[in-house]
Amino acid sequence: MFNPVTIIEHKRDGLCLSKDEIRFFISEYARDAIPNYQMSALAMAIYLKGMSAEEIADLTSAMIDTGERLQQVGNSPRVDKHSTGGLGDKVSLILAPLLAVLDVHVPMISGRGLGITGGTLDKLEAIPGYRTNLSESEIEKQLAEIGCVITGASERIVPADKRLYALRDVTATVPSIPLITASILSKKTAESLTALVLDVKFGSGAFMQTEADARALAASLVCTGKHLGVKTSALLTDMTQPLGKMVGNANEVMESIETLRGKGPSDVRELTLELCAKLLVDVGRCGTIHEARTLLVDKLDSGAAYERFEAMVNAQGGRLEQLPPLAPSFDFCATHDGIIQSMNGQRLGYAVIALGGGRKVVGQAIDFVVGLEMLCRVGDSVTSGQPLVRVYYSATSERAAAEEWISQAFQIGHESPKPVPLFQELN
Ligand code: URA
Repeated sequence: MFNPVTIIEHKRDGLCLSKDEIRFFISEYARDAIPNYQMSALAMAIYLKGMSAEEIADLTSAMIDTGERLQQVGNSPRVDKHSTGGLGDKVSLILAPLLAVLDVHVPMISGRGLGITGGTLDKLEAIPGYRTNLSESEIEKQLAEIGCVITGASERIVPADKRLYALRDVTATVPSIPLITASILSKKTAESLTALVLDVKFGSGAFMQTEADARALAASLVCTGKHLGVKTSALLTDMTQPLGKMVGNANEVMESIETLRGKGPSDVRELTLELCAKLLVDVGRCGTIHEARTLLVDKLDSGAAYERFEAMVNAQGGRLEQLPPLAPSFDFCATHDGIIQSMNGQRLGYAVIALGGGRKVVGQAIDFVVGLEMLCRVGDSVTSGQPLVRVYYSATSERAAAEEWISQAFQIGHESPKPVPLFQELN
């Protein structure tokens, strides 16, 4: 009935694709009946021509329907958060147990590090024994008992995305807003959510480098989420410097634990509270953000959120008491006096990869105990010889390369840089 070539021609000529054409293409691709070269052509046509809001929603639901959805069991609302990824972003580790304490369930299906941005699963795997391959029935059981899960996607959740993402990676079609939207939302919507909040980052350490690009992606994600019947909101967040102090894996788990115990860096705590508060308002648990934040602060400061984190880790086989100590360290120091103008996140990310805390190639093993501890923030006055970054390194780290990337990341001048807010509303 449908012909893949005609569908590709439609898109190339800028014509809207029908829901049935999109469904046909994606379902046939997922079952290997449409070859990669035809999918590549369609991906490039989408990349160049864009898609209407309706087409993006149709593409997303066609992708979801190539796999299974988690079942909604019980009456608790289900929520999740997706971050477009950034240096030091450990919010997921705090948000999931914090909301679970308030009987708002979080079935978080997460990913691994991509390029310079770390992955939640890699961070959690720094805890010896932590399993990230739960089955759908294990996820449901843990949700009913503990209220939160952080695990990887099984082969059965959106198989079309696995194939398509790998293809986009090698056809230069990753940075397409329709394709990113469908990829992210298909995986999140398959969790059968009531509400979703998106943390769309911008700056030198983010997938979207400019605020304008981040705004366009956030708008597409919110519009498509709503189309699919999920209450979706977004924050635009600053990634002109790492979130919190720690960047790596085991050190980010340590900083998450501090925050779950009511301490931790103020930016990590503030961003987590705001994202959680939006979800509590969206599911009707609280009338205002202020009311929600008061409730959430109590659960952090009382230690309840930390206890729930411990329960989640135990349930997934993790042995928190065996979290490994960090590797030996040296301090990287300022070479002259001045004010920190900027920190290039991409270069700091490359430094973490050189240390072994991120991957150069798919499947590479991560060294969990290396990473960075940021000892300063943008806008700080520093003097020559003052430590800027504590660098945790191991015998296999490329120490000289890491140092070179760090030295290239810092810009020190004499003006006070314009402060960037930690987060902004989409509208
Ligand atoms: N993350 C995803 O899951 N998909 C994309 O396309 C980009 C980022």
